[in-house]
Amino acid sequence: MRALIETEKLTRVLPEIVPVTLVKDITLAINEREFVAVTGPSGSGKSSLLYLLGLLDRPTAGTLRIGGRDTDPMNERERARTRLSMLGFVFQFHFLLPEFTALENVEIPMRKLGRLARPAMRERAGELLSSLGLGEHLDKRPDQLSGGQRQRVAVARSLANDPPLI
Ligand SMILES: Nc1ncnc2c1ncn2[C@@H]1O[C@H](COP(=O)(O)OP(=O)(O)OP(=O)(O)O)[C@@H](O)[C@H]1O
Ligand SMILES: [Mg+2]
Repeated sequence: MRALIETEKLTRVLPEIVPVTLVKDITLAINEREFVAVTGPSGSGKSSLLYLLGLLDRPTAGTLRIGGRDTDPMNERERARTRLSMLGFVFQFHFLLPEFTALENVEIPMRKLGRLARPAMRERAGELLSSLGLGEHLDKRPDQLSGGQRQRVAVARSLANDPPLI
């Protein structure tokens, strides 16, 4: 079976006057249905690694394959398309859009991908939020939600375009 996410010696070094190494020589393979936790002390580079795996940052060395495809030659458009259709990201800080409701925040990635009709998007967003215990909060904006509720909206948003169908 081909791994969903596969890296070889993935590295990211910031080109400061004194170069800062955020991620060094990470080789891993994550298969379908596999659940993986990245653990380590604060500041050890977990978020930096996830930014690379989520195509939010570019490695300075090493390779990253997603769905068997090398990501290095991808242009920004292809990277954005892969992020939208194959990856879900829950940030350490939720990054919900403040002027939109919980329901709308979850609908946004579906609208951008354009795979479903509008009523189906709304229904799916409502189902995802309800399954995470937010059925009573669909029409609230992020500033009307608790920290944990906001993070769960972010989880629902990360699952909006799952399963991938490209
Ligand atoms: N833009 C930057 N410039 C310089 N150093 C940075 C930058 N971004 C991150 N770092 C450093 O890189 C290291 C890794 O940061 P990262 O956010 O990946 O850690 P983490 O393992 O996710 O930590 P936490 O558990 O606290 O979330 C940290 O020591 C941090 O100070
Ligand atoms: Mg972190």
